[in-house]
Amino acid sequence: MKLGFVQNHPVFGNVRENVDRTLEMLAGQEAGLIVLPELFSTGYQFAGREEALELAEPIPDGPTARRLIDLARSQKTALVAGLAERDGKTVYNSALVVGAQGYIGKYRKAHLFDAENDVFQPGDLPLPVFDVGPCRVGVMICFDWRFPETARTLALNGADVIAHPSNLVLPHCPQAMITRCLENRVYAVTADRVGTEARVPGESLKFVGQSQVVDPDGQVLYRASVDREETKIVEIDVARARNKKINPRNDLLAGRRLDLYRLN
Ligand code: ACM
Repeated sequence: MKLGFVQNHPVFGNVRENVDRTLEMLAGQEAGLIVLPELFSTGYQFAGREEALELAEPIPDGPTARRLIDLARSQKTALVAGLAERDGKTVYNSALVVGAQGYIGKYRKAHLFDAENDVFQPGDLPLPVFDVGPCRVGVMICFDWRFPETARTLALNGADVIAHPSNLVLPHCPQAMITRCLENRVYAVTADRVGTEARVPGESLKFVGQSQVVDPDGQVLYRASVDREETKIVEIDVARARNKKINPRNDLLAGRRLDLYRLN
C-alpha cells in the first residue's frame, strides 16, 4: 500500500486558510493513508483554555472534520489529522480518523506536553487501532512518543502502522521513533510542522519538521526537511509489520518476559 504525510506551516488562528492550504497539498495524492500534523488547522501555542475553546471544533461534526471527511471520500484515502476538539466546555488535543466511507473514530492525546496542561484536558479514550482497509492504524499524538508504553500498547492492539500527528519542539523524536518501530515491528508515520510561534512572552517555539516514515526494521524510508512544507507518499508492505519474528527464535511480542516486568 501507499502512505505518507503532509508537513505544513500553519498561521496561528487562521483555521480556514490553514485547512485550504492543507487540502491543496493533499489534492491528487493517491495513498491508502495520509497523516496530517497535530493541531494542523489552528496552530499550536494557545494563550489559554478560552482561546483554545474559541478555535476548537467538534469531532466529527465541526467544519474542519466535515471538509476532511469530504476529501477522504472523494480521493478514496484514509486520513489521520490532529485537531483541537471542543466537547461542550472541554478542549482536547485530538486526532480525527476518516476513511473513504466516512468518519471512523478519534483519539485524544494522553500525555500532554508542558503548557498544553493549561489548555487541554488529558485524553480519556483508549489507545485506538482502526481498520482503514489496507492496514490497521494505531494513533498517538506527538509527546506520547516519550512513553514507550503508548506504541507498545498500539502494537499489542494490532496496529500495523502508527499514525503520529506531531508539533515537535524537542530534537529527539525523529530518532526515537526508529526505536519505537524496532521494538514493535511496526511502521510509523510522524507528520510534523515547520515554522515558529512566539505568542506567549518568553516562550518562543521552533518546530523541528523532519516528518518521516520508518519501517519495522527501523529504516527511515523518507525524512522531510527542517523548514519546508511538503507532501510525501511512499510504498510499504503491511505484511512485514504482521510478522513479529526477528529470527526463528525471537518474537518481539511472544518473547516478552511478563513475569519480570513492572508496569505499575
Ligand atoms: C508536543 O507534544 N507537541 C511537543
